Amino acid sequence: MTASPAGPPADFDPPRRPDPATLLTVQQHILREQDRLPGAGGEFAWLMSGITLATKMIAARVRRAGLTDLLGAAGNTNVQGEEQQKLDVYANDALLHALSWRDSVGFVASEENERPVAVHHGSPAAKYAVVFDPLDGSSNIDVNVSVGTTFSVLRRPADGRQDVSAWVLQPGRVQVAAGYVLYGSSTMLVYSIGNGVHGFTLDPSVGAYVLSHEGIRMPEQGRYYSVNEAYADEFPGPYRAFLGHVRGGGLGRRYASRYIGSMVADFHRTLLKGGIFLYPPTADSPGGKLRLLYEANPVAFLAEQAGGRATDGARRVLDVEPASVHQRTPLVVGGRTEMDAFERFVGGPAAGDRV
Ligand code: AHG
Ligand code: MN
Ligand code: MN
Repeated sequence: MTASPAGPPADFDPPRRPDPATLLTVQQHILREQDRLPGAGGEFAWLMSGITLATKMIAARVRRAGLTDLLGAAGNTNVQGEEQQKLDVYANDALLHALSWRDSVGFVASEENERPVAVHHGSPAAKYAVVFDPLDGSSNIDVNVSVGTTFSVLRRPADGRQDVSAWVLQPGRVQVAAGYVLYGSSTMLVYSIGNGVHGFTLDPSVGAYVLSHEGIRMPEQGRYYSVNEAYADEFPGPYRAFLGHVRGGGLGRRYASRYIGSMVADFHRTLLKGGIFLYPPTADSPGGKLRLLYEANPVAFLAEQAGGRATDGARRVLDVEPASVHQRTPLVVGGRTEMDAFERFVGGPAAGDRV
């Protein structure tokens, strides 16, 4: 040991630099990245830890679903008249419970609750609203197919308004953070706080989401289109014409179709492999089936952050001003080549990178 010129030798070791080859957990990543958010302190990381904790609980239940009495209907219908599965109820309770411990959360709104739930909205510490679909694609659980959770984080109203509409009914372009967890062959969390899209795989041996997909970019052109073609006769003309164009080789290559029926799983494939996912207006759902606030907005935010786009057929999804919590929307999301072509068919907004 050598004496430093400034004094006696130190009786401690120098700091160890983190080894980039070692695991980076989502919590470490959020702590590193949250400096980008004006006014965010450790409470944003604490909020996100509520989501990661709840989704790990949900993942554990989903994994055991076939072994225990967790499959099937819970005997209730939710506000949208859809039958609730037992795991819908469990997933909703897990998220509500985990987030209710976070002082920074003012309101939460869920697909499974008719009205938003007040958490700490009266407290000056409450900076965020969180909206989520606790279990997306839940009709797939009974047949052991991937399901997911989607979430969106919104900032409290800048003008100090306390009404729930001001907290929750905000356009997707102002989302602070958005993401999803996919309970697939592995469990993955994908999120963005406006700094690109990053994916973490749950390592069950340590119980942590570990960085596995940094800076995801959607390929400019893919090989799949994804839509429920059983309803094709009901789609508006431009949607049918676009799909015919794709099938006919109009995009310069042969496409295959893939449709899981869990939006998270269908979007995840589109994010990683490119292509296009569509849930058009149909006879049953003329305004689309998917929900704007907690399904379309998170996916649209991630798509744009990864170099893709999302439209409702007429407008950029992120620019739609929501009027109600459970508002539905058509959704078309994909990579640049497919979205350019789709927008030519619907006469939508001029193609261009809006990130
Ligand atoms: P949820 O299970 O949350 O109600 O959502 C199901 C949604 C979505 O995941 C999927 O894209 C779509 O329903 C599939 O609907 P169709 O069966 O009409 O294609
Ligand atoms: Mn859903
Ligand atoms: Mn759901």
